[in-house]
Amino acid sequence: MDFFEYKNGELHCEDSKLSLLAERYGTPSYIYSQSTLLKHCRRLLQAFSNYPTTACFAVKSNSNHTVLKTIFEEGFGADLVSAGELQRSLSAGVDPSKIVFSGVGKLDNEILMALDANIMSFNVESDFELHSIARLAAVRKKVARVSLRINPNIDAKTNEKIATGLYSTKFGIPETELQAHLQIIKNSPHLKLIGVACHIGSQITELAPLREAAHRMATIAKDVVAAGFPIELVDMGGGLGIKYSKENAIELEDYATTLIDAIKPTGLKLVIEPGRVLVGNIGVLLTQVIGVKKTPQKNFIIVDAAMNDLIRPTLYGSYHDIIPVVQSLEKTATTLCDFVGPICESSDFLGKDRTCVVPKAGDLFAIRGCGGYAAIMSGNYNSRAMAPEIIVEGTRERVIKRRQLLPEIWQYELQD
Ligand SMILES: Cc1ncc(COP(=O)(O)O)c(C=O)c1O
Repeated sequence: MDFFEYKNGELHCEDSKLSLLAERYGTPSYIYSQSTLLKHCRRLLQAFSNYPTTACFAVKSNSNHTVLKTIFEEGFGADLVSAGELQRSLSAGVDPSKIVFSGVGKLDNEILMALDANIMSFNVESDFELHSIARLAAVRKKVARVSLRINPNIDAKTNEKIATGLYSTKFGIPETELQAHLQIIKNSPHLKLIGVACHIGSQITELAPLREAAHRMATIAKDVVAAGFPIELVDMGGGLGIKYSKENAIELEDYATTLIDAIKPTGLKLVIEPGRVLVGNIGVLLTQVIGVKKTPQKNFIIVDAAMNDLIRPTLYGSYHDIIPVVQSLEKTATTLCDFVGPICESSDFLGKDRTCVVPKAGDLFAIRGCGGYAAIMSGNYNSRAMAPEIIVEGTRERVIKRRQLLPEIWQYELQD
């Protein structure tokens, strides 16, 4: 469900040739499709349109200003985790009454900033956080709106590094601790409980864990109401997986029906925090071959993108399809190859054990599924400049983040 297609043997983003974009902006570069982004936003909202739902975009997945602005203009709020994400989101025009503030370790200055912005909900994960929010809300003479993020101890059946719904992780409040947290809220005139929340993990490709979590949260919500807290909402977090290659992606309509069917009997509003499903497949990382090293075991295709540009394969063992920009490359005999970057680490790889036609220096490749948790996680390791982000709409393109200049990498350091 994206607009990256071969036309006359050449990979295009919408109506723009990736080879021309490489000429104009250099490589490595992130290329996004505006139409894909809009399509994903609209399809998701449509799927939930028959139930009162607030969709808060998980800003951590792609916080580029232009991407955020587009998503907020489509009617999404924000799920954020830091003062930086809060400030970015406000400057990109988010409606503060649609902001949820997640995270296990909110700092005092972040809590104050969010109180000043009048956000919808602090999604609280510990007793110490409730105490901090109550203390700071008293300073501001306000009543903070809080939701309790529950850890439902459900296995999301995803990569363990992005699973967050089991007791073995740092996230959420175990159900056994719920009463104690409710008591803290009851005792504070500066806290108002408005909901219960959960987020069991990311890149989830099976409905069953999401269904189980939704039913568990509905039961918890009813118990909380019965305990004398007239809450407004159940926040089911994000987590919907996408197709990086051959995996099964849950249909949006099935996802929506599953959540709505579980939550409807509570009569409470639904909140969701989608990230990857909106942005994951809006982008590719465009890269160029520097050279090919043949060894007795395999070929190493050394490209100009590296783990500082895209860390997911190194960090999580994630798989991204890597496809040639000129399609004819695919048609002759193939060999086993690793796509690797120029960084001095054996962990610097983008794709392992791929079968492809051995390319030559200068050939272009597109690494797919690079719209979410990609540019946003890049860094300057090996003093490599961060890649630009370019968004395409039809035949028009806009640079929405320019390539970093080398001196900008060390500009914050003491200069003699
Ligand atoms: C609390 C919370 N909500 C939402 C998300 C977004 O998840 P996804 O991008 O899988 O939809 C995350 C991601 O880690 C998260 O931690």
